[in-house]
Amino acid sequence: MIGKAAGPPISITGLGAYAPDRVLTNDELSTIVDTTDEWIMERTGIRERRIAAPEQALTDLALPAAHAALDGAGVAARDIDLLLCATVTPDMMFPTSSALLADMLGAEDAAACDLLAGCTGFMYALAQAYGMIAAGLAGRALVVGGDVLSRILDWTDRSTLVLFGDGAGAVVLEKVDRPGFLGFELGADGGGGVHLSLPGSGSRHIEDATGNGYVQMNGREVFKFATRVLVSSAQAVLDRCDASVDDVDVYIPHQANVRIMDHAAQKLGIPRERMVVNVDRYGNTSSGSIPLALADAQAQDRLKEGDLVLMTGMGAGLTWGSALMEWTR
Ligand code: COA
Repeated sequence: MIGKAAGPPISITGLGAYAPDRVLTNDELSTIVDTTDEWIMERTGIRERRIAAPEQALTDLALPAAHAALDGAGVAARDIDLLLCATVTPDMMFPTSSALLADMLGAEDAAACDLLAGCTGFMYALAQAYGMIAAGLAGRALVVGGDVLSRILDWTDRSTLVLFGDGAGAVVLEKVDRPGFLGFELGADGGGGVHLSLPGSGSRHIEDATGNGYVQMNGREVFKFATRVLVSSAQAVLDRCDASVDDVDVYIPHQANVRIMDHAAQKLGIPRERMVVNVDRYGNTSSGSIPLALADAQAQDRLKEGDLVLMTGMGAGLTWGSALMEWTR
């Protein structure tokens, strides 16, 4: 699916993020599985990640992020009409984390549902919130992306354990005076879904119980997929919006692996200094990745009025998605 924004100007007016306090370094990981700081740094660029405390679930990470986003937008929770929460690790399947979060925030009038699209969940949720506001169904939306992947990792499997971390982010979307979102491109390939899966997590019974309940990944296949779609999706949305890669001021790819991100930036022709990188400090936080990177960019004063911001996510499904927007304060 690809589309150029045709409705009223809609943008992000508030932004927040939260990551748990507990830092897990590569050296500490090397006491848990057979790995080294050198291997992880060289193959992924990840130095450390955050891990949720035993009593913390997704909504505990999402709540401070949501409060920060609402404060940033100067919007009260009761003025939110739509709350979308993109995650593959909700507190539980139901009640949904979005409904729990709406209750915690006091967003009494909000429609709320969770959205499953792997690590691309935040991009899908952004596009859906945009569409509902553009169509006049909602005035303001709170879009949350976050995951507690540490709960669904096999802590004896070095090939997945070292890649992921926990974190969440949130944004407020509403109508503004100037164009914010310019276009979206979203896609999915269920045929490739087998390369990144969580067997035993739903209604399909799997005879061989090995690995059930834990992330299963074919790293090499996902690497090839990721390097391909980060480029094709970004290029597609730029083309549709008649924008050039030279116009991109801030590039925010999914923070999965610095090698994948560098490859995409290089192929697209985006100078590295325009790319936001925080995978070294958080690892891959799935649906939390892009809003955490956005919040980092904002904290570093890298998001200026009128800047062209390109975001591209990819992940389980397999799925991918890009958004192109002009930043509005
Ligand atoms: N520490 C040390 N060695 C490890 C290791 C670890 N944590 N994980 C794997 N290895 C070993 C492998 O067992 C293999 O050993 P062998 O050659 O004796 O069989 C060797 O390192 C090379 O493994 P390989 O899988 O070829 O490494 P790679 O260069 O492809 O890097 C990934 C592995 C996972 C970092 C890389 O494939 C990747 O980033 N894939 C994409 C993952 C991703 O982003 N997923 C989420 C998408 S949302």
